[in-house]
Amino acid sequence: MAPPRINIAILISGRGSNMKALIEACRAPDFPARIAVVISSHPEAPGLEIARAAGIAVESVDQKKFSDRAGFEASLQESLARYPVDYICLAGFMRLLSARFVDAWPERIINIHPSLLPAYKGLDTHARVLADGVRETGCTVHFVTAEMDGGPVILQKKVPVLPGDTPETLAARVLAQEHIAYPEALRLIMRGQPAVCA
Ligand code: GRF
Repeated sequence: MAPPRINIAILISGRGSNMKALIEACRAPDFPARIAVVISSHPEAPGLEIARAAGIAVESVDQKKFSDRAGFEASLQESLARYPVDYICLAGFMRLLSARFVDAWPERIINIHPSLLPAYKGLDTHARVLADGVRETGCTVHFVTAEMDGGPVILQKKVPVLPGDTPETLAARVLAQEHIAYPEALRLIMRGQPAVCA
């Protein structure tokens, strides 16, 4: 008999390629998760169409409709409460979550970031990697805490920085690893083996 699957909510703001990787991973009979809902902070996010086409429930909580973070997060919680959600997977979700929100989901929110954290927290990671001349970068899947890009690491994947790289070529190389890392991180969590570096 297949093991029980945890229910995940995926939060996006845009393209949704990591979400798509998780949708594809969930098709495997032995994958330990299923997607309960995809929620976007932008009603026009291209990722929503991908999720809809895959037959997944979608919601938008339009960040532009809220004057403050508390209102936005209250609405997000209401959307989440309509589904059976065990874990929240942030996948290109461009909003910082408050300590109050994070505390409501202790060790239940996961994020993917396009650098080898703790290096290069925040935005524009690839341009900063290139400006610094470092030779290796990668991606990190980590638990979310109130500190931006600061929670415990679940899994990292490394890629080389190659001569002639632009932020775009480097982003594409890292993104390919992100799509492998996120499903792998969920498998590790479900096996109770986070904090593994590859
Ligand atoms: C990814 O690079 C992810 O690491 C970062 O935002 C980007 C989202 O891309 N947090 P996508 O929407 O998953 O294609």
